[in-house]
Order: sequence, then structure tokens, then C-alpha cells
Amino acid sequence: MSDVPIAAPEMGEREIERVREVMTSGRLADGPEVRAFEDEFAAFCGTDYALATSNGTTALHAALEAVGVGEGDKVVTTPFSFVASANAIRLAGAEPVFADIDPDTFNLDPTAVEEAIRREDDVAAVVPVHLYGLPAEMDRLLDVADDYDLAVVEDAAQAHGAAFDGRTVGSFGDAACFSMYPTKNMTTGEGGMITTDREDVAERAASFVNHGRPPEGGYEHVRVGHNFRMTSMAAAIGRVQLDRLPDYNEARRSNAAALTDALADADVVTPTEPDDRRHVYHQYTIRTDDRDGLADHLDDEGVGTGVYYPTPIHEQPAYDGVSHTAPVAERTAEQALSLPVHPNVSEEDLRTITAAIHEYER
Ligand SMILES: Cc1ncc(COP(=O)(O)O)c(C=O)c1O
Repeated sequence: MSDVPIAAPEMGEREIERVREVMTSGRLADGPEVRAFEDEFAAFCGTDYALATSNGTTALHAALEAVGVGEGDKVVTTPFSFVASANAIRLAGAEPVFADIDPDTFNLDPTAVEEAIRREDDVAAVVPVHLYGLPAEMDRLLDVADDYDLAVVEDAAQAHGAAFDGRTVGSFGDAACFSMYPTKNMTTGEGGMITTDREDVAERAASFVNHGRPPEGGYEHVRVGHNFRMTSMAAAIGRVQLDRLPDYNEARRSNAAALTDALADADVVTPTEPDDRRHVYHQYTIRTDDRDGLADHLDDEGVGTGVYYPTPIHEQPAYDGVSHTAPVAERTAEQALSLPVHPNVSEEDLRTITAAIHEYER
């Protein structure tokens, strides 16, 4: 392992203690612990509802079903994301349409989204991804969705606590989804969350993740659904991690500011944080034309890096035949390099990272 790894999930005594309590409570699967986590997460996002799921992919799948996306529909999304953003669209029975990104923010370009909506028939929804923890341009994206009467499902898998115009992500779309995978800003091991202000969407999503049961449970199944439920142990961890999240995000932001400062004169493009947005730096991603050379050098110096993502989704074999081009996403996939920014990166680690980059450029 690198001296400075790209991710270092943190689990403390409080998580262990809460899991121990839940494990001896007799309620291991769904139950009051999960309801409490949902209530706390909804309050954190400022939404009326939150529904816990087994992971971020199942959250997206259930949310798309819940807003009414299905067979024959198209959904506009970004090709520059983890493949789950598109897989969930396919799993809901629809087809993704990939619109290009803005090179500075790495997020969906609203103009490209509108072009895609005009070009394609049967577009039912837009899935903006708040990539690396930076909110997508939600005001313009919501306007476009409104103009064409489309649902919006935010993929906030990487953006717990990020904000646009002072409003927390997860509260903009008809629904939003979060991932609690270990590398994320907060974790439950595996886990996900759907947030929404719409009662009908909350009801349908809760039913879909629980074999189509009605809210009162039991053995009447009003629709076909899945078991996408979260365990009580995961919820217990999540409640502690949610409590820690503001400190975690502050540490990430402070590390990012230090990296940007120290790399001001380096031959790399550092991430931007537009004035109307609060970035939570799930990843600190630079752009450089010499990505692979720099990554190898950093590896030699004990600094872990990540390439998220080396192949845009429309160029993945699973999406063969989806005939889109997205030149900005394609170029960015060759340039993007993520540096360690997580809360366990120390001041000395920051110096190691930036000194190694300067040394490479000498
Ligand atoms: C942008 C994005 N969407 C969706 C997901 C899926 O989340 P999970 O891995 O919890 O299923 C991830 C996880 O890496 C992600 O980064």
C-alpha cells in the first residue's frame, strides 16, 4: 500500500459500539435503526423523506422506477461517471443518452443536455451526477427539465453535504441518490439512500425496495419489487458517520485548499469551485496531459492516485451500440488524475504529494 493512500475509510469506537448494540437487539435486517437513519439523513438534506437502500446503485434504480422511468424511455446523463449512473437507467428498463460535460467542472453541460433532449424522442428524465463532490449546475438543469417536463434524479453518490446556492444536494430533483461505499465521504460499508420531497415517489421507492409491499408491510404485494433493503448494522454505522460528516467534509475542503495553493505554479489544472457551489471533494482531481507519467512517478514516491474514470461510459463494451460522442468527456478521461484528499491526509502527506509533483516537473 502507498504511504499516502488514495482512500482510507475510518471506523471508530462509536461505530463499533453502536453495531454491537444493534447486533444484540435482535433486529438485524430492516427496523427502527434504519428508520432513525432515514429520518436523520432527510433532516441533513432538508428533504421530507429519505429511504435507505442496500447501495447507491439500488438507490438509483429504485428512484428511477419511483419517478416513473421505464421501458421505452430515454434518460439523459453524463458519460463521465461511474458506470452505475448508466447501469441503473438500463436496469429500470430505459436507455441512457449521453450528453457531454463541462471540462472545468467535470459535470453535465446544460446546453449539451438540451441538445440531447431536442435530438432524441421519448426522453423522460435527466440524471445529473455531482461528480467528485461538486454539484452539477442545478439551476440551469432544472430549468431545462422543467421546459421539457422531465423528471430529475440527482446522482449524489459522491456528494454528501455538497451545496448549490446554499442548498444541500439531494433536495433539488424529484429524487436523489447517495452511496455509502467505503471510499465515499461517509460510509456504511455498503449502503445507499434516496431522498425526495415527493410523497408519491417516497411511497413507490419504499415499496420497490421491499418486494412491492405497501407502507404497512405484510404479505400483500402491490407491485413487483426487489429486496434492496439496508441492514440495521449498516444504519447504525451510518448514523455515527452522518454525525461525523461535517468534520470529514471540512477536513477534505481544507486539504483541497492546501493542495490548490501548493500547486498554483505547477503544470496541472487544479479543480474549480464556482462561487455558487460548495465542493465536498470526494475526489481532488487535477487535469494533466502527462497523466500516466505523473501517476507512475507519484506511485514511486509512495503517493496513491486514482483515475476516475479511464473510459467514458459510452465507450464501455456494455454500452456498445450506443451511438454518442462526447469529445470533452473523452479528452477528460485521458487527463483526469485524483490525488489523496481524504480526512486522514496529514499536513506532511500534503507536502509529500505536492513536492513529488514539483519534482516530476523539474
Ligand atoms: C457517481 C456514482 N453513482 C453511483 C454509484 C453507485 O453506488 P454503489 O457503489 O454504492 O452502488 C457510485 C459509486 O461508486 C458513484 O460514484
